[in-house]
Formats: sequence, structure tokens, C-alpha cells
Amino acid sequence: MKMWSGRFRQPLDPDFERWQRSFSFDRRLLRHDLAASGAHARALKNAGILSADELISILQGLDQIGERATASPSFLDDDEAEDVHHFVEKQLVAVIGETGYKLHSGRSRNEQIATDLRLYVRATIDQLRHDLAELCSVLVDRADQAADAAMPAYTHLQRAEPVLLAHWLLAYVEMFLRDAERLGDCRKRLNVCPLGSGAVAGATLSLDRALMADSLGFEDATANSIDATSDRDFALEFVNALSLLALHLSRWAEEMILFSSQEYGFVVLPEAYSTGSSAMPQKKNPDLLELVRGKSGRVLGNATALMVAVKGLPLAYNKDLQETQEPLFDSSDTVLQMLPLLTGWMRAVEFQNERMHEAAQSGFMNAWAAATYLVKRGVPSRLAHERIGKAVQTCIERNCELQDLPLDELRPLSPAFDQDFYESLKLASVLAVHDVPGGTAPSRVRHAISVTRKRIESLREEAHAHA
Ligand code: ARG
Repeated sequence: MKMWSGRFRQPLDPDFERWQRSFSFDRRLLRHDLAASGAHARALKNAGILSADELISILQGLDQIGERATASPSFLDDDEAEDVHHFVEKQLVAVIGETGYKLHSGRSRNEQIATDLRLYVRATIDQLRHDLAELCSVLVDRADQAADAAMPAYTHLQRAEPVLLAHWLLAYVEMFLRDAERLGDCRKRLNVCPLGSGAVAGATLSLDRALMADSLGFEDATANSIDATSDRDFALEFVNALSLLALHLSRWAEEMILFSSQEYGFVVLPEAYSTGSSAMPQKKNPDLLELVRGKSGRVLGNATALMVAVKGLPLAYNKDLQETQEPLFDSSDTVLQMLPLLTGWMRAVEFQNERMHEAAQSGFMNAWAAATYLVKRGVPSRLAHERIGKAVQTCIERNCELQDLPLDELRPLSPAFDQDFYESLKLASVLAVHDVPGGTAPSRVRHAISVTRKRIESLREEAHAHA
């Protein structure tokens, strides 16, 4: 039986009927719809609408539906159900008889879908935060293993200064920890319960909203029934947080693709995550990275689709809101699938430490440290910059590095040059000179590793506490 056929004289156009259904995608909300329905049923019993026996029978029926769905996914192949809420009602009546029709007393699908989606996003956030903790801890492990290995850091994609490989890895950890924090922040705001909001004006029965909220793990009941039934801010915030996360993953993928090219030769692609070419026998391609970069596009596109779907809607519920589900699910699925894969990739990738190390020592990447040598001897910074620039110019002409210039050629540039200048040009000194919190001096990076580990640990604990 339909949920709304009474006032209609004519049947729906069959094509329209099929087209307007959402069950093909909202079926994934089944377990949340069952949980929310259980909470509603208990409130109905407290409000005197259900007898104790009816409540028990409804709760058992809901359990059975959950069990059957788990046991056989084909149980969900129902081409009459309009949406997940209709499916649950239909199945409940099939299992327990007409009492099943009492479950919908005093409620509307508008509050149901708003609640189910909050539960879905909340569970997804918990999973994502767990996965991010996993990815970050692999990155930190790799940073730890890298010890004092150096690499060039780039600005404008031109060699800039040497840094520790560990320092570079930790830069990505910062991005991912911010993503985890943003998701946690979104979780806090979404964790209120629309149940009892009815269709728009509030439930028509005096339901204990606080109890329903509490039994579903929400912090509170939503404050306004009109807002509660039409609000999708939580979904927008969530997909936008996912966009930023996907964007970070994409930047990382792009950099790894560059680093794996013969031109850089900084990383060796793990075979388990690469593919060959059907034509060129020598090829090993960075497919995982390319797909991460490519799929991040759809995550960004989904966020836009969702915002555009909502932007013109008057209060309160409008069926357009049904269109917010697929982009939401697609972004979630896309990121949920990518994270463990690239964690595996990160675990398996081989860094070419020697080549990176070599690259870190050429191309005048010690020039700023050289200027700093002069600054520490009282030469005004602008002049020091100028003098070293001149020295670099000479080197370019001779095709050598700063350390190859003898002292008697440097002295005319500035009397501040001395024998210990050469020591300051060595890679170890250049790294060590960046001795500030957040800098690449090895002692600072070691400290950063241990602090970062603790932050990851608390993220992991938080994610577990919710699971
Ligand atoms: N399938 C609908 C959705 O996803 C559920 C809410 C339907 N409400 C309504 N008044 N037709 O938005």
C-alpha cells in the first residue's frame, strides 16, 4: 500500500512513478531508518499510542527487517517501494500485520530523511576520521624511517632549499589532520535530532524528543521544526570538507606523479598499485595516483551540485532535497575507497634517497644559507643577498657550485667571507640553520614527529570512542 494514495482518483503515470522513487539509492540508509524508527516507536508507546505489546512487536519486526537485509541483500530488491521509509513500512506490515501501520503515527518522512541522513553522515565521518588517522600514521612512520634523508624543496617548482624528506611528509600530515578536524567539527554541529519535527510544524503527538535524541546518540533535539525538516547544511558542510580532503589527496597524487617520473626519479612506483601499457612494454604507470587526482574532480563537482540543488529552495521540505542524496553518497564512497588504497600505496612506495640527497645538494640550494652566513657577520641582509647573487652568477658561468669558489675570489665580494663559510654551505649546516619550531632542522623535525604521533593518537582515540 502506498503511503499517500487516499486523496488521488487516478493512478500515477507509471514512468513518473518509477522516476520519482529514491529507493534505488536511499536503500543504503536502511539501518539508520530502522534505528530511528525504533526510537520513534518507543516514544509512541510513552505517548500512549502503542501498547506495550504493540511496541514489542514493532521492535521485533524492525529487527527482523535488519537481519533479513544483512542475510540477503536481494531482500532489498523491491520495485514497489517508493523510498526506504516506504520499504520499512511495507516490510513491517508483511512481518507483523496491520499494527505495522501504527508506526508512522505522528511522524513524517520529512523528519525521517533528515534524521537518517544525519546518522549516515555521522557514521561516515567516524569511519573517515579513523582512515585518516591510519593514513597519517603511515606517513609519520615513513618520516621516521627517512631519518636524516634530504630532498629539494621547491617554490614555483624551482629548486629552493633542501629539506628533510621527513619534513615534506609531515607537511601532508598537517593537511590531513586539518581535514580530520574539519570533519570532527562538522560532526559536532550535525549531532542534533530532527525526530519529532513532523512534516514542518512539529509532531502532532506529544512525543518525548529528548529521549528519542538520546537513544540515537544525538546531543540534543533540533530547535525548530521548520529548519529541521529542510536543513541540509550538515550535508553541505560534509561534502565541502570532503572536497578539501580530496583536493589535498589530489595535490599529493600530482606531486607523487611528478616525483615518479624519470625526470625526477625520487620515488619508485609500487608494482602492486601500478599498471602497464598494452602497447609499450617498458611502461609502469601511476594509475592509482592518476585516479585519485581524477576522482577528486567528481568530489568537488558533487559539492557544487549539492549547493546548487539547495540554493533556491523556500522553506521547508521540498522534493528537490531528495537530489542531495546521490552527490552526498558518491563523495562519501569515493573518498572512503581512496583513503585505504593510498595508505597502502604510501606504505609500499620506495623513496630514492640517494637521488634525492644528490638533488638536495645542487642548484645553489645553499644560497640563502650562504647569505645568512654573511648576515650573521654583520652584513646587511639586502647586501648579503646581492653578494651571494653575484657569486651564483659566477658559478653559473663556470658551471660550478658556491662551494667550488675559492676564498680569494669571494673576499673581493665581501671581506666577511672566511674559511668557515665552506662549512656553512654543507647540506647538514644548511638544514640545521632552519632551527625554528616548524622548520626543517633535524632536531625540530624529530620533535615534530613525536608531537604529530600524539595528535594522531588522540584522533584515533576519538574516532574509536564514537565507533
Ligand atoms: N524520499 C524522500 C527524500 O529523500 C523522503 C521524504 C519524502 N517526503 C515527502 N514529503 N514526499 O527526500
